[in-house]
Amino acid sequence: MLTLFDFIAVAAAARTDYILSYDWKFASESFPKPENCSASKFPVDLTDKQCFGLKNQAQVADEETCRQTCCGSDECTVWQWCRPGHACSPANSCWTGDDVDVYSCTSTQSGWASSGRGNGPGPAPTPQPGDKCADGSWCSASYDDAAWRNITLPHDMVVEGVFTETADKSHGYLPSAIGRYRKRFEVPASAHGMHVRLDFEGAMAKSIVYLNGVCLGGHGSGYTPFGFELSAANVSKLVRYGATNVLAVHVDSQVDDSWWYDGGGIYRNVCLTVTPPLHFEQWGVYAPSIVAEHTISVDATTAQAMLYPSIEVVNDGPGAISFTLTSIVSFGGAEVGRAVSVGLIATAQDRATLNQTIDLGTAHLWGITHPNLYTLTTILTPIEPVEAADTQASDVLNTTFGVRTIRFDATNGFFLNGQATKILGCANHQDIAGLGTAVPDALQAYRITALQEFGANAWRTAHNQPSKALLEAADRLGFLVWDENHHNGQPYEMELLIRRDRNHPSIVIWSLCNEVLCETNNKTADGLIAMGVIHKWDPLGNRPVSANNNDLNGPQTILDLQGFDYATGSYDDWHKRAPTIPAISSETSSAYGDRGEYKNDPASGHVTGYDTENPSWGQTTEVAWSAILTRSFMSGGFTWTGWDYKGEPTPYQWPNINSHFGILDIAGFWKDRTYWYSAYYKPEQPQTHVFPHWSWATAAEPAAPHRVPCEGLCHRTQSNGQTVDLWVYTNGVEAELFVNNASLGRKPVAKYSHAQWSAVPYVAGRVEARSYAQVGDVEPSSTDVIETVGPATALVMRPAANLAPGAALPANGVDVAFFHVSVVDAAGRLVPGAAHNVTFSVSGPGAVVGTGNGDPSSHVPDHAPARPAYHGLVLGIVKADDTGEAAEMNVTASAMGLTPAMQTLKVERGERKPRL
Ligand code: GAL
Repeated sequence: MLTLFDFIAVAAAARTDYILSYDWKFASESFPKPENCSASKFPVDLTDKQCFGLKNQAQVADEETCRQTCCGSDECTVWQWCRPGHACSPANSCWTGDDVDVYSCTSTQSGWASSGRGNGPGPAPTPQPGDKCADGSWCSASYDDAAWRNITLPHDMVVEGVFTETADKSHGYLPSAIGRYRKRFEVPASAHGMHVRLDFEGAMAKSIVYLNGVCLGGHGSGYTPFGFELSAANVSKLVRYGATNVLAVHVDSQVDDSWWYDGGGIYRNVCLTVTPPLHFEQWGVYAPSIVAEHTISVDATTAQAMLYPSIEVVNDGPGAISFTLTSIVSFGGAEVGRAVSVGLIATAQDRATLNQTIDLGTAHLWGITHPNLYTLTTILTPIEPVEAADTQASDVLNTTFGVRTIRFDATNGFFLNGQATKILGCANHQDIAGLGTAVPDALQAYRITALQEFGANAWRTAHNQPSKALLEAADRLGFLVWDENHHNGQPYEMELLIRRDRNHPSIVIWSLCNEVLCETNNKTADGLIAMGVIHKWDPLGNRPVSANNNDLNGPQTILDLQGFDYATGSYDDWHKRAPTIPAISSETSSAYGDRGEYKNDPASGHVTGYDTENPSWGQTTEVAWSAILTRSFMSGGFTWTGWDYKGEPTPYQWPNINSHFGILDIAGFWKDRTYWYSAYYKPEQPQTHVFPHWSWATAAEPAAPHRVPCEGLCHRTQSNGQTVDLWVYTNGVEAELFVNNASLGRKPVAKYSHAQWSAVPYVAGRVEARSYAQVGDVEPSSTDVIETVGPATALVMRPAANLAPGAALPANGVDVAFFHVSVVDAAGRLVPGAAHNVTFSVSGPGAVVGTGNGDPSSHVPDHAPARPAYHGLVLGIVKADDTGEAAEMNVTASAMGLTPAMQTLKVERGERKPRL
């Protein structure tokens, strides 16, 4: 039988929000780029010419791949590749674009190899609102989609593909795809005459939406939300009230506007909202507060504050209407203040903005250690001229906000609630191991807590509008956010970002754009327009506007907060020339390294985990961060990146498919360098980490080849296999190393650096590192031990921190539980070289939906239930079926020759409610 609403939250009887997550039908067509992109598709030879206005920068390895990046799509009309050895501008790389008049490309003799298609064929015709689908076609209401796959949102169609060497490197060698989605749903008869909206939080990309066989419209960006007013006069007649409606959505990820993996498909929520004609405008409640700074308590947890709600009300009804607007502020469930206003919308189909003032008294401040949140409940009640029976609330909305102060000082950096706070941030893309970009809302908290574990306190949403769920999680967890717009020069995108996000206390910086995404014909003028949009929609937010673009840099900057894009060596000089402008490292380091690897291997695509590797524009962790942590005028910084992500495999290429920039690997496991961050981000906790491992091959026992499943001990040799460079990360000031109880001496540890013992002869046994808080201390402040382990005997499984210990997974078919599995020896110690193929299985009402291991060269599909351990670790991801019933699932990990591991996972009752 057809599906009715997928019910989520009823904010009040007056407003109903439905999240359409279930029972979608999906069919895809994959378009791997042709092996040989025929030259005839690009008849115009543009060699040694430069074409301006090309928007897409692909990180590919050669001219042929650059050409292929363009040739899969009719809408890509020009490609250009900077031949090695030439100083092309704007960058030594591959650029592609559409809508470019190739005859305007100019001679430069600068080394560009390029071709184009002249002025044709141009973009394919796109359906326009009102266009009808042909009878029986896939988007018509009557189409038989029984053979299509059933899927639940969020969904990433690209991650389901096969890693392919000819696909775009920067997108992780996963071929782009075209996807078609269909969904049957019922609009209740009672919604007739109401205000009805259909909203997509994000679909990647170039979406075209049809309702009952008629085109509602399209949306280009994969990162910005979009929606349709189904109750609008010209659309309402398409809606079947009290009956089944058919939604059909076409998405196309072929022409990307990014140089990283951005997935494809409907990867965020789709919502249907029904309200009476008198209702709050979408994102129309603005809840800024102002704190009396001098009243902030010594522990920075309370202060006197006022709230200044500004509320947009819309009347879709047929005549004038007057109403009461009641705003109630509550904290921990108790009312702390209210305001009541009377409004009048004199004309039908009109709107009004009401401003109120609410004294919050002594407010509980939002901070990193105390993320206090308030609720503003706004209630609209019609007064005249409605029937008495109708004088109930017309619309009710809950808006979460926090009260806090922020200040960026040009000399002393960032202050949160009056306290100097270094921003210890990292930039992140959206994807995660096993799931791609289809990250369930509830998992966003885990992505943040994994960063908090090593002491990070901020997230830069690189380089796009984040999901709502990420911001909600940051609010709840006390995590600061740099909220980034995707394109400069598109003020409408900026308006969506600000209106949607302005009530989140976690957001402390608005960002115009990143690097090439800032480039327009006049980026400064466009930046100023965007800043105008920000000030219009967040006039009381007091958030500085920044960007990650050095050309917007300099004492004449238009930015409130100068963002340094790497350029570590220029901090002091720039600060001297612009001493009144606050500064932050908007992007830094890009150090790369893999967990458990201790030498570079271009053939397998692995990079050493010693912190020695970075691209020409970046720095090692130690160099990048000591420059920030030793300068009080630097407000903080954002490491590129917190998590590894798909795509941008730098410095190698195929078979390497993922980046290795992350502080964490893509499965969330700690690399050695994570311990450096932990030591200096959490200096109050004495910490020591000695690495690499101490289970090396000896001449008598040759090393097993890397990444081949092995029984027992799998080793990886160093270059000579006999000596090992031992590094110690600690926040102590001295460290001492003992090999089999013999001291190798005590060394000073320079702050933000490490202690190193080079070429230590390998003798099986035990290495202990001791760190000391003060020079000459006798008692170590912390220690760490590595030992030569025995053969692998068992798997050990533990739930990752995305579920609280003992917590249950909702039976909703959307949320997931993560399990970390280690390959251990008889003494329970991690076997560092183990690469056993680990299979996950579930008994009970659920399924394995993905796996990961952090290996940036693994071509095992993300959704596969089995995967080799990578240096002894592997991640399994499970989901409970959407039965709604409480139950138990047993999750098992097994590998040939090892004792399996099992965990029981409680499944809790739940409606089909992915998010409240
Ligand atoms: C930056 C860019 C990032 C990423 C990074 C790799 O310049 O902003 O998106 O490409 O380089 O180091």
